[in-house]
Amino acid sequence: MTDAILEVHDLVKHFPVKLPGIARILWGGDLAVHAVDGVSFSLRPGEIFGLVGESGCGKTTVGRTVLRLLEPTSGTIRFEGMDITHLKERELRPLRKRMQIIFQDPHASLNPGMTIGQSIADPLIIHEAADEREAKRAALEIMTEVGLAPAEQMYGKYPADLSGGQKQRAVIARAMILKPQLIVADEPVAMLDMSIRSRVLELMLSSVTESRSCTSAELSRWGPRKESTQTRNIPTRRPSWKPSPSPIPCDGDERCFPGARCPMR
Ligand SMILES: Nc1ncnc2c1ncn2[C@@H]1O[C@H](COP(=O)(O)OP(=O)(O)OP(=O)(O)O)[C@@H](O)[C@H]1O
Ligand SMILES: [Mg+2]
Repeated sequence: MTDAILEVHDLVKHFPVKLPGIARILWGGDLAVHAVDGVSFSLRPGEIFGLVGESGCGKTTVGRTVLRLLEPTSGTIRFEGMDITHLKERELRPLRKRMQIIFQDPHASLNPGMTIGQSIADPLIIHEAADEREAKRAALEIMTEVGLAPAEQMYGKYPADLSGGQKQRAVIARAMILKPQLIVADEPVAMLDMSIRSRVLELMLSSVTESRSCTSAELSRWGPRKESTQTRNIPTRRPSWKPSPSPIPCDGDERCFPGARCPMR
């Protein structure tokens, strides 16, 4: 019996590329981007795990695939000991509140039609973890924690009214409100000015030491604090382009576009 929160074994994710007719004939079939090829790691509670590599090497794809926002081509993903590699969305739903993601781009991660407060409270309502009044109260509390103050005033503001740093704080608050066991933080400060990067990183780090979760590097995951917080970084390789042995249905990631209802919330 392992105490790992997340175990990834030999994870592979290929994206099929549709070629136009003549290119397809010349090439002898469709192509596939080998974005992730045989990645294995495990993560214990309280551990910060950094996945480091050049642009396009597959960090985001690993993060989205382990959370099953993308369908793995092969490999095994175990979350809290349960094999989630092939679970259907309906079966994944109860697990979603225990694993959250902070996307790379805070500007695209918030629904422009919802106020900041509504976006932060929304996961509690979606997962039926609170009624509207309780969800609002929890949102106001966490907004104060992440420095979106005065919370009452910020609650009714729309994403367009906020700075990049404030939006990222809102995205962090939204990921934390469900007190998840695991958070994938996909370059959570990449889109922010240098001046506020360190403040947002400090905020995420303080959440490790003070309470349930922790964070960051290029891509990292965190679980609730146990005895100590450890940090590990592993490098990833640049993806390669290879002919696809058989066509794979494209599962894209349209669910993460602005304004779309994110399945992780
Ligand atoms: N939905 C998709 N369809 C086809 N190819 C994709 C898709 N998503 C990612 N890729 C390709 O997979 C490879 C890895 O992309 P990914 O976004 O995981 O890289 P990354 O390491 O996160 O890069 P960055 O540091 O720039 O964020 C890239 O070559 C990318 O073009
Ligand atoms: Mg990325």
